[in-house]
Amino acid sequence: MTEQRSIFITGAASGIGRAVAVLFAERGWLVGAADRDAAGLAALAATASTIVPLTLDVANRDGVLAAFAEFGAQTGGTLDCLLSNAGIDAKGPFGDMAWQRVRQVVEVNLLGAMSVIHAALPLLRATPGSLCLSTASGSAIFGVGGMAAYSATKHGVRGLTEALSVELAGSGVRAADLLPGIIDTGMLTAADKAALPTEGMWRVMPAEAVAEAAWEAYHGDKVHWFIPPELAELDRQSTAAPEAVRDALIARAMI
Ligand SMILES: NC(=O)c1ccc[n+]([C@@H]2O[C@H](COP(=O)([O-])OP(=O)(O)OC[C@H]3O[C@@H](n4cnc5c(N)ncnc54)[C@H](O)[C@@H]3O)[C@@H](O)[C@H]2O)c1
Repeated sequence: MTEQRSIFITGAASGIGRAVAVLFAERGWLVGAADRDAAGLAALAATASTIVPLTLDVANRDGVLAAFAEFGAQTGGTLDCLLSNAGIDAKGPFGDMAWQRVRQVVEVNLLGAMSVIHAALPLLRATPGSLCLSTASGSAIFGVGGMAAYSATKHGVRGLTEALSVELAGSGVRAADLLPGIIDTGMLTAADKAALPTEGMWRVMPAEAVAEAAWEAYHGDKVHWFIPPELAELDRQSTAAPEAVRDALIARAMI
């Protein structure tokens, strides 16, 4: 009998995090499901006895440390995979956004992600073949007008992933990120969905597609996982000709 693997997921109460929790639990993993939404976690934990609900706010350092201490005690001090995934969006022109909202997006999406990864490292380092996985975003390929603060945090997550993929190699921990385009979760309003294309890289994808990518990420060796995979082409274009990508986005916004 093989030893049970473990994954710790933030933002697990809904959307992408929930889909990842369900998939890994179905495939036999022990799941530390962390979120600030205690009711959502309780509903998730009711679906499988191997899902451990852990209420935390990623912006609260003490709560983050306590959650890892609690889960680590159940795994014997190991962790095969972290998915730092909790996030909030913030739409609207940057200059019109309340400063408090800008701060909050950074505190949850970037500082919160850093706090979670920092707290997970002792467990990851103690586990051969472990993966430090984060949910970045398609907005970390080329910043999205109307989501500037959000895009900045996701570029931060991507940069952190790349740096850690090098820095942690010596301790045997891999680092990777998921870059989802448009995913059908609570983050998407009905109006958003109605305005989106039905095909191409910006089509709406189910959260389960991101969960499958997380599974492949653990079993694979890539730094970036695009969902859908067509987004990799935008990534190549953004590197080769950022001005052309900028001009196309400006033209699209003016239609
Ligand atoms: N939905 C998309 O189109 C899309 C695209 C790219 C990236 N993402 C990213 O995917 C991740 C998951 O988002 P989702 O689409 O599943 O949205 P979601 O709103 O369904 O899920 C986000 C979860 O994070 C939790 N959360 C928020 N702030 C928290 C905090 N401070 N502490 C703990 N938990 C907190 C929420 O309670 C919620 O359960 C986010 O990082 C988001 O930026 C989403």
